[in-house]
Amino acid sequence: MKIAVLVSGGGTNLQAIIDNIKSGYLEGIEISLVIASNDSAYALTRAADNGIKSAVIPVKAFDSRDEWDDAMVKAIKDSGAELVVLAGYLTLLGKKLTHEYSNRIINIHPALIPSFCGAGMYGIKPHEAVLAKGVKISGATVHFVNENYDDGPIILQEAVGVLPDDTPEILQKRIMKECEQVIMPKAIRLIADGKIEIKNNITYVKE
Ligand code: GAR
Repeated sequence: MKIAVLVSGGGTNLQAIIDNIKSGYLEGIEISLVIASNDSAYALTRAADNGIKSAVIPVKAFDSRDEWDDAMVKAIKDSGAELVVLAGYLTLLGKKLTHEYSNRIINIHPALIPSFCGAGMYGIKPHEAVLAKGVKISGATVHFVNENYDDGPIILQEAVGVLPDDTPEILQKRIMKECEQVIMPKAIRLIADGKIEIKNNITYVKE
């Protein structure tokens, strides 16, 4: 199964997918295209280092969001991808893309949805909010994407304890390593194997 991976930053989640393809856990998965929202995303270097085709398609380069949306759909279709993976992608997707790839786009969010999510809650911000609130567990969520932020059916979640000495950066790193980089490849594996079913906005893993 070909996948397109959309990125905006460092690309540790992209790297986790690449590493899991190499290790054989994601056997049968090919990253046919990496799309970055900006040309300074380090994820682009990771793609190049691994011989993966990439494109930079910033919304700012277009006269309207509609034109950008069309360009995104075309690039993904041309790549032959059947699944779109948002791996630290920080631009809200267009309506055309979310409709055309309905239930075929997944996102990783660095908190336990429905807490600490929604517009403005990206990158380090959920971790700052978690510590400010004093919650005792946090984690990450992989979910299907619709036209609203962090809103589609939840596929997998993984939690870690929030520790007294945590800073936002320490918590972010632990969640990336112990949660995001575990459940993102696992969700791709389950979807590729046809094991995820959605009924009334709830996902179920088929045995
Ligand atoms: C990750 O922590 C990801 O969960 C988060 O951005 C970071 C990107 O890291 N995504 C969001 O906040 C989306 N709402 P990466 O570029 O190293 O994978």
